[in-house]
Amino acid sequence: MEVVASIVGALIAEAARHLCSRVYSTTRGCLARIVAVSCAKRAVEHIPGPSIEDQTTASGTLEKIMDLLNDDGVRRIGIWGMGGVGKTTLVRNLNNKLRNDPNNTFGLVIWSTVSKEVDLKRIQTEIAKRLGMEVKKDESIQTLAIQLLQKLRKQDRFLLILDDVWKGIDLDALGVPQPEDTKGGKIILTCRPLNVCREMKTDQDVKVDVLTDDEAWKLFCQNAGMVAELEHIKPLAEAIVQECAGLPLAINIMATSMRGKQMVELWKDALNELQKSVPSNIEGVEDKVYRTLKWSYDSLQGMNIKYCFLYCSLFPEDFSIEISHLVQYWMAEGLIDEDQSYEVMYNRGFALVENLKDCCLLEHGSRKDTTVKMHDVVRDVAIWIASSLEDECKSLVQSGIGLSKISEYKFTRSLKRISFMNNQISWLPDCGINCPEASALLLQGNTPLEKVPEGFLRGFPALKVLNLSGTRIQRLPLSLVHLGELRALLLRNCSFLEELPPVGGLSRLQVLDCASTNIKELPEGMEQLSYLRELHLSRTKQLTTIQAGVLSGLSSLEVLDMRGGNYKWGMKGKAKHGQAEFEELANLGQLTGLYINVQSTKCPSLESIDWIKRLKSFKICVGLSICDVYEHGHFDERMMSFGHLDLSREFLGWWLTNASSLFLDSCRGLNLMLETLAISKVDCFASLKKLTIMHSATSFRPAGGCGSQYDLLPNLEELYLHDLTFLESISELVGHLGLRFSRLRVMEVTLCPSLKYLLAYGGFILSLDNLDEVSLSHCEDLSDLFLYSSGDTSISDPVVPNLRVIDLHGLPNLRTFCRQEESWPHLEHLQVSRCGLLKKLPLNRQSATTIKEIRGEQEWWNQLEWDDDSTRLSLQHFFQPPLDLKNFGPS
Ligand SMILES: *[C@@H]1O[C@H](CO)[C@@H](O)[C@H](O)[C@H]1NC(C)=O
Ligand SMILES: *[C@@H]1O[C@H](CO)[C@@H](O)[C@H](O)[C@H]1NC(C)=O
Ligand SMILES: *[C@@H]1O[C@H](CO)[C@@H](O)[C@H](O)[C@H]1NC(C)=O
Ligand SMILES: *[C@@H]1O[C@H](CO)[C@@H](O)[C@H](O)[C@H]1NC(C)=O
Repeated sequence: MEVVASIVGALIAEAARHLCSRVYSTTRGCLARIVAVSCAKRAVEHIPGPSIEDQTTASGTLEKIMDLLNDDGVRRIGIWGMGGVGKTTLVRNLNNKLRNDPNNTFGLVIWSTVSKEVDLKRIQTEIAKRLGMEVKKDESIQTLAIQLLQKLRKQDRFLLILDDVWKGIDLDALGVPQPEDTKGGKIILTCRPLNVCREMKTDQDVKVDVLTDDEAWKLFCQNAGMVAELEHIKPLAEAIVQECAGLPLAINIMATSMRGKQMVELWKDALNELQKSVPSNIEGVEDKVYRTLKWSYDSLQGMNIKYCFLYCSLFPEDFSIEISHLVQYWMAEGLIDEDQSYEVMYNRGFALVENLKDCCLLEHGSRKDTTVKMHDVVRDVAIWIASSLEDECKSLVQSGIGLSKISEYKFTRSLKRISFMNNQISWLPDCGINCPEASALLLQGNTPLEKVPEGFLRGFPALKVLNLSGTRIQRLPLSLVHLGELRALLLRNCSFLEELPPVGGLSRLQVLDCASTNIKELPEGMEQLSYLRELHLSRTKQLTTIQAGVLSGLSSLEVLDMRGGNYKWGMKGKAKHGQAEFEELANLGQLTGLYINVQSTKCPSLESIDWIKRLKSFKICVGLSICDVYEHGHFDERMMSFGHLDLSREFLGWWLTNASSLFLDSCRGLNLMLETLAISKVDCFASLKKLTIMHSATSFRPAGGCGSQYDLLPNLEELYLHDLTFLESISELVGHLGLRFSRLRVMEVTLCPSLKYLLAYGGFILSLDNLDEVSLSHCEDLSDLFLYSSGDTSISDPVVPNLRVIDLHGLPNLRTFCRQEESWPHLEHLQVSRCGLLKKLPLNRQSATTIKEIRGEQEWWNQLEWDDDSTRLSLQHFFQPPLDLKNFGPS
């Protein structure tokens, strides 16, 4: 089980990173995710970002680079210019242009952001991904370099784009062949000073210039809106644009913050502030950026949002920060009012982030909705502001710069926040540090760090946040207990951590994160943490005992996350020694998020768990199950999973009234259970959106006449069926539950050897209006997708009017998609492999306007039958070989 879970987990992560042509990376069932991995690599991947189409200068520069790319004599191109001038935007546009260019001759375009501190392994991993190679976690840089070198030598014309290079990179160490030694391989790099280009021995350098006055004005107006053109404002607006010195970043920031401001006083004030002097150590055009940014910072309303902003600069350059983690920090530092529920605070944090994004002070990170990052210039300015603030927020930021040790003298008394995250620090001083006011100490990601000395923590008596995540520490010193102000103790992924000292003294602790650690027991004094709101214990494999009463005494607890851990809650009266009872959790009156495993042979009964109705989000896995494959519960997910249980005498009805997702793995008695559901006089289960049934040898045929008269799952959106030995058709389930599938979007059926047809039309089901994706694989007996009850003229044509994606694999007996004359109007992606008898596609000549790809084996394509030859011709160029199915499906 473990192995399956970890493989699938890795695949999920992998799939999420691939923005593949199948666009399968959305949140879906685990089965779909396995399939998703088989994405072919694309020559060029789209990289989101603003377009420069209507900027003449930049477009000109872009053309120039395109010409250089076509020049066989030029192998290395340097693109240089000051921070904020738009180099990254330019190369992003270049990348995307190549993607849409039918004349593109590069077999593979690889993008990697290098940043100030070069992390060869990360760059190698990025390159390897694009080459479709697997990278083992502990692979050495040298071995990887050799593998990459071999692959890249063979790769036909690669283009490697290295964004944000600060110093020469040794291509040999990286494993990139000298482009001159390859068949047409090229490198483009962007950097600030020209000498980096020299170090990299570029053949041609292109300077990215600031915008012309006209362009600057146009860009400003685009972002500031009509107001800039108003007669009394225009001169001020123009003067402000002048102050921005043609730098797109500065212009964007100024324009967005002046957007819609009608009062002339505000414009005068902005101009005035911009013209004020800047730090003496910054000169030339760059000081313009500093001024605009400083102004933007000063314009933030209220101190809290300013501090929140400065907080983001504690993270390394080009780092995608999880918004939910920011919220933890901000909460711990009291920047968000802590007297509210976790959910309210989270939303507040989210709003703050949006606010900062609106001022261009933050941009979205690698995952658009859940992470943010700072433009490197913005970060420079934030660090400058934070380090020069005398009073409130003085920070020391040394993150992600490869430090191997820290020197005591940097820790001045007035420091408030200290970040040494993501370095290579292996040793901390035992004494000599005194930072009586420091509230945040971020040491996470220092993988070599093994020990936190007793005296070290004494230097920070006022800490509110301590992050030691991802270090190699085995224990924490006893001096921890003196951190009476501590709100957040973050030890996630300290995989060597085995125990914690007594924590009773941390009386104000709100967040304790021990996820992915090796702790065997909860620390002593745990029950005294009466302010604890979040307890993260996911993937704690060694934690197998928790005494009764310890967690249920944490009266402020709002989130308890034990996903993927080995601890199982017991059932009332059945709990063993060292096992707390599930029912105890009823005492946690504040609980809103609960993610746990329960050991039981029965489904917990309704009366004993009435309290669960209070939860906003949960994932409760009863019995044995691989439901943990479904990582990350969203705040609105309410998932119930039952594994290896006999459900024949169970009534799941109550669970279904509140769950949004039901997962049944290896359960017996499903048929009886469904019948019980159908005949019980309950209302329908309107919350349920996702149903997964796997590994069952139940027959689903209703035992006659007891199917529900109305749709019990009217809002079902996703249906996943996997390894159901005797299922002959989904219509069997339909019969039980009265399903109409009026909202169904995704349907996935794999490994159902008895399946004869997918679904019968007629009666209540006349079309599947919302069905968007269908995936079927390994169903040997399947001969038709749909059956049509003859004579029912109300069956609509087509029956799947909105189907967009269909993937059929390993269906050796499948003969037809649908009725002879039908064509599916919205089909975009179609893949058919190992379905030798399928001769006719539901496509006609018009389909050439919607279809994006058709994949399959060549022989299969050759033997397809068409209404006429022109249809085949019009679709021919959408045809491609099937995706690599090496990893395909559960076999
Ligand atoms: C591709 O090349 C052809 C022939 O050189 C040319 O006519 C066409 O405009 C090019 N297309 C693009 C998008 O550059
Ligand atoms: C603590 O550090 C870990 C590892 O870098 C990081 O993932 C997490 O976001 C940090 N915690 C918070 C609350 O930011
Ligand atoms: C956990 O820490 C290890 C090093 O100890 C690191 O390689 C790995 O990437 C970390 N995982 C996460 C999810 O942060
Ligand atoms: C759970 O169900 C109860 C009714 O049984 C309902 O009052 C409550 O709002 C539901 N909670 C959620 C989050 O759907």
